[in-house]
Amino acid sequence: MKQKLTGKKVAVTGASSGIGRATAIRMAKEGADVALIARNRERIHEVAEEIRALGRKAVEIEADITDAEGIKAAVQKAIDELGGLDVFHCNAGIYLRCPAKDLRMDQIRKIMEVDYFGCLNCVYAVLPYFLEKKSGSIVTTCSMDGKKGVPPDAAYVGAKFAMNGFFQVLRQELRGSGVHVGIIYPSRMDTPQIAHVDCPKITPKGDPDMVAKAVVKSVVKKKKEIMVPSFSCHLLTWADAISPSLSDWLVRVNRLDGTENEIEPINEAK
Ligand SMILES: NC(=O)c1ccc[n+]([C@@H]2O[C@H](COP(=O)([O-])OP(=O)(O)OC[C@H]3O[C@@H](n4cnc5c(N)ncnc54)[C@H](OP(=O)(O)O)[C@@H]3O)[C@@H](O)[C@H]2O)c1
Repeated sequence: MKQKLTGKKVAVTGASSGIGRATAIRMAKEGADVALIARNRERIHEVAEEIRALGRKAVEIEADITDAEGIKAAVQKAIDELGGLDVFHCNAGIYLRCPAKDLRMDQIRKIMEVDYFGCLNCVYAVLPYFLEKKSGSIVTTCSMDGKKGVPPDAAYVGAKFAMNGFFQVLRQELRGSGVHVGIIYPSRMDTPQIAHVDCPKITPKGDPDMVAKAVVKSVVKKKKEIMVPSFSCHLLTWADAISPSLSDWLVRVNRLDGTENEIEPINEAK
C-alpha cells in the first residue's frame, strides 16, 4: 500500500507513551523518519527501537516541554539529525481529575505550565524554522475537553480551551505562509494518562491509533480540525451550539465524566 509520508521528517512530543507513541509509530509506518521527544529515556528508547524495526530512522531526544531553551535545543537536534523537519506534533501533556471547588491554584498553574505554556514553547521553537522555509505542519493534540467542558476536569479543560483558542488564531494568522496548523480533539483514549478512569460501555475509551491516523490525515490533507471519534464528538458540539443545557445533559446521560478506579493516576499535578 502507498505510504502517505514517504521521506517526511517528523518530531513528536510525548512520544514515549500513549497517543504520542502511537503517532510516532504510525508516522514511521507511513514512511517518515521520527524524532521522539519526552523525558523518560528508557521509554523513548523502546519506541525508537520499534521505529527502527520498521526500517525508519528514530532520533531519541530527552527534553521537558516546560523548559523553553531545552525545547529549542531539542528542535535543533531533530533538524540536525533528521536533516530537516516537515511536521511537528505538539502532543505531550498531563491530566488531572479534581472537582473545581477542590482544586488548588498551584495544581491549576502546573496544568497550564505543561499543557498550555509547554505546548507554546514547542510552537515558538519550531515556527521560525517553518516560516523561513515557507512550509511545515504544526499539529496539536488538544482534546474534546477543549471544545466542551466535562467534569471533573476544570483545570485541564481550562488549559485545553486556551490551547484551542491559541491554535485557532495561529492557523488564521499563518494563512498564506505555507505553514499548516492542525488541531486534533480526541475524546477519551485508552492510554496510561487515564488508566485510572473507567468509562461506561456507551462511551468506551478509543484506541490511540485512531488519533495517530487523524494526525496523519491532518498533515496530508491540511485539515484544520479533526474530532476523534467523529460522529459522537460532532453531536456534542452541535448540541452545545444549540443549547448548553442540551450538551450538559448529553455529558450527564452518557457519563462522559467517567468514574475513578483503583489505579494510581500518573502525571498527577502536584
Ligand atoms: N488519553 C486521552 O483520553 C486523551 C484525550 C484527549 C487528549 N489527550 C491529550 O493527548 C496528549 C497525550 O496524552 P496521552 O493520553 O497519550 O497520555 P500519556 O500516555 O500519559 O502520555 C503523555 C506523554 O507526555 C509526555 N510528557 C508529559 N509531561 C511532559 C513534559 N513536561 N515534557 C515532555 N514530555 C512530557 C510523557 O512522557 P514523559 O513522561 O516521558 O516525559 C508522555 O510521553 C496529551 O496532551 C493529552 O492531554 C488525551
